[in-house]
Amino acid sequence: GKVAVLMGGDSSEREVSIMSGTGVLNALRSRGVEAYAFDPAERDLADLKRDGYSRCFIALHGRFGEDGTVQGALELLRLPYTGSGVMASAIAMDKVMTKRIWRFEGLPTPDWRLVSSAEETRKAFAALGAPMIVKPAREGSTIGLTKVTDVEQCEAAYQLAAKYDPDVLCEEFVAGDETTCPVLGEGDEAQALPLIRIVAPEGNYDYQNKYFTDVTQYHCPSGLPAEEEAEIQRIVVQAFRTLGCRGWARADVMIRASDRKPFLLEMNTSPGMTGHSLVPMSARAAGISYEQLCLWLVSQARL
Ligand code: DAL
Ligand code: MG
Repeated sequence: GKVAVLMGGDSSEREVSIMSGTGVLNALRSRGVEAYAFDPAERDLADLKRDGYSRCFIALHGRFGEDGTVQGALELLRLPYTGSGVMASAIAMDKVMTKRIWRFEGLPTPDWRLVSSAEETRKAFAALGAPMIVKPAREGSTIGLTKVTDVEQCEAAYQLAAKYDPDVLCEEFVAGDETTCPVLGEGDEAQALPLIRIVAPEGNYDYQNKYFTDVTQYHCPSGLPAEEEAEIQRIVVQAFRTLGCRGWARADVMIRASDRKPFLLEMNTSPGMTGHSLVPMSARAAGISYEQLCLWLVSQARL
């Protein structure tokens, strides 16, 4: 049947979603799937049913797309969709909720404070030390993020993050290797793909360096010792299963330089599928083409 590629939306990652969705749409069409773009910011999701779609590929990022809301609407419409269900999507969108669960389950994640004022941000800085990451609890693509190295920056960092979300996360910065690891599958069948090690200029893997410049280096194979990579993959699969994720997701992991200890930062349940994106890159290293990945994800779509 007809597949709707949900793309665009009205989150601050709209532009990224359009790039992801365009890639997915072209891939599905190239393999003979009858697929069409559908932008929930422009049309009512209820039209999906009327227009005769039989399943949806969610290529939306951020709020109203990756956070369980669209997933809930599709549940009500009884339209199978790719990726995690309502609860895992909602939890993973919220970095603080995610970290609470991981910590409870004994999975490693950097220390943090949830703050709701500049004053609390300064207190968090005193407690966590420099550098400290300040970011909206529910955002993606590094939007609204500041690396604070001086207490004087706390005010502006808080105000910036609070523009996107009243819940602001202050997190201990982990100096070391920046890596990311996709997971495909569900439950006992969940499997990690190869790790990617990201080297951005001055460690600045920000919005521009994620999507628009060509200065970021991606290493896949990661070049890390095999046992280290295997251990991280094991932790990432546990992190995925603990949140109840399904289909696919991508965990961002920092490896502390001083002792090589890995720290989970977050789980992205609707990972980017742009030309610069990481899941397609890792899949390719595992022998899975972009087109195969899209077809497989659609085949796994469910309620
Ligand atoms: N939030 C972006 C799309 C990602 O995680 O790939
Ligand atoms: Mg993210």
